[in-house]
Amino acid sequence: MNSKINIAIDGHSSCGKGTLAKNIAKELGYLFIDSGAMYRAVTLYLLNEGITLTELEEDPAVLGNIKIEFVYNSEKKFYETHLNQENVENEIRNMRVSRFVSPVSTIKVVRDFLVKKQQEMGQNKGVVMDGRDIGTVVFPDAELKIFMTASPEVRAKRRYEELSKKGIHINYQEVLHNIRERDQMDSTRKESPLRKAEDAITLDNTSMTKQEQAKISLQWAKGVIAALDE
Ligand code: DC
Repeated sequence: MNSKINIAIDGHSSCGKGTLAKNIAKELGYLFIDSGAMYRAVTLYLLNEGITLTELEEDPAVLGNIKIEFVYNSEKKFYETHLNQENVENEIRNMRVSRFVSPVSTIKVVRDFLVKKQQEMGQNKGVVMDGRDIGTVVFPDAELKIFMTASPEVRAKRRYEELSKKGIHINYQEVLHNIRERDQMDSTRKESPLRKAEDAITLDNTSMTKQEQAKISLQWAKGVIAALDE
């Protein structure tokens, strides 16, 4: 298993893309990159600085003040998102950011800024990246593309439980509403709407366990790697 590949995982919000991507990356010894966290970090920066989307479009140079890094936390054993040297891993997941992130991600200058960074991260291969446009825009040449989906109710339940575990208390209906709203915005926006790449494999995980998803995806990945090694 010498050939390194890039794996693109796209799909609706709260489908478990991050969990799957992390599991695959761990098994293959690859780098996992959560591209949604990058959109969330930009959103947090704009909220904190009080910069409106109109102001951003008029002066895209403000993006130059944003430094996003993934820093390994050896205690928790995962990479955490840092914005300008500050650990924002929890803050970027709260509802304040979740409500504003979809409009922010429709802005072309934001997408151009982040896509460039994501492409740099993947240039040496060995990356598993999850998002909305990874297989279509960021890595159109990714050797394996997975498109994930699940029913909105199942996704809302999972998100609700994830937030509750983190001590973030919110009503289930609000989570469901936010998911539906983001599905709508992500799929209908002008810039890089969420869509399945022609060569992506669909993975509907409504009734699948995390282990089942990881197992089947790893089989796909190993199949692609073995074919390249031949
Ligand atoms: O995966 P997530 O829910 O953390 O993503 C947050 C938002 O960022 C989501 O509403 C859509 C946007 N996003 C995007 O437009 N492109 C990506 N590659 C990743 C996320």
